[in-house]
Amino acid sequence: MSQFAADVPRPEIPTPAGSVLDFSAAGHLYATHQVHAFAAKCPPPLAAWAIAEYTSTGGLVVDAMAGSGTTLVEALLAGRPAIGIDIDPLARLIARAKVTLIDPDRLTDAAVALVARATEAKDSGWRPEGIDVDRWFRADVQADLSRLREVIAGSDVEEDLRPILACLYSSLIVARTSVANVRDIAHSRHHYQARPEDPKVFDRFTDRARRAAKMYADLRRRVPDPAAEIRVEDGDATALTLEAGIAELYFSSPPYCSALDYTRATSSRLRGLASCSARTRPPTGPSAARISGPSGPRLHWQPRMRRFRLRSVRP
Ligand SMILES: C[S@@+](CC[C@H](N)C(=O)[O-])C[C@H]1O[C@@H](n2cnc3c(N)ncnc32)[C@H](O)[C@@H]1O
Repeated sequence: MSQFAADVPRPEIPTPAGSVLDFSAAGHLYATHQVHAFAAKCPPPLAAWAIAEYTSTGGLVVDAMAGSGTTLVEALLAGRPAIGIDIDPLARLIARAKVTLIDPDRLTDAAVALVARATEAKDSGWRPEGIDVDRWFRADVQADLSRLREVIAGSDVEEDLRPILACLYSSLIVARTSVANVRDIAHSRHHYQARPEDPKVFDRFTDRARRAAKMYADLRRRVPDPAAEIRVEDGDATALTLEAGIAELYFSSPPYCSALDYTRATSSRLRGLASCSARTRPPTGPSAARISGPSGPRLHWQPRMRRFRLRSVRP
């Protein structure tokens, strides 16, 4: 997040076989790729290359282990509709936030207004359960996080901004420079480090919102008009059935099963902390989500089977 520069050019996407992809910093410092840290992100140029190589205009992209949504951002930039699925609620929150097109000024205005309200708000006493909160957070940080969480969950926050604000809130904690008593919580090997001083939760939140606003401005500049539809759904890739010939590209970077426990690395660590986003998700998933027009494919949620089915809609 610290090095984002809106003017970093998007890397050239090589199509001829045998060319080299750019995995350097310039490969991810554009659009919303840097809104939130995520363990084992896919390099954006790889997803961009696959989309350019294997899909045509309007062709559906599916990522059944979408993580923080790298494939989905690249699909949006390429003008391809996409469906992303993940079992991890934090991953879905980040992915959703990264593909939301907003007026960046609204984001900074909302963040400034929320901080003003949080500063005035009383600490409700809410604390996350299941962790030794006094070890991991200074008392003043706990109170500020609690106040900020309350105001983000409040009813006067505009719905399209809520996942982004919740994501920025989470990025205060799951980051290399977290407000917690920890160094590098973004990855699985974090290290305890007691904070001698107040890390100033509210200032950091506003700062992150300002930086994110630049990223959202950059995203908007790059996305073709009209924007392709991107959906993010809760689901288990192992229970997804796909009718043949619907998507032009199935692109996933699966978990490093023996190296990284994603649930531990992200959602369980955040137990409750990012729950200010809870209102952004339907409780049981959609019954059917249609994507890319009236005759496009549909993602059906089959509640009894507890699985998704992606199938075409015949006129
Ligand atoms: C390597 S990460 C994907 C990273 C992603 N490409 C990105 O750039 O952020 C793997 C993801 O697979 C998800 N995952 C693991 N098992 C899954 C399953 N059975 N169904 C859906 N998602 C799953 C994890 O929650 C994690 O977000």
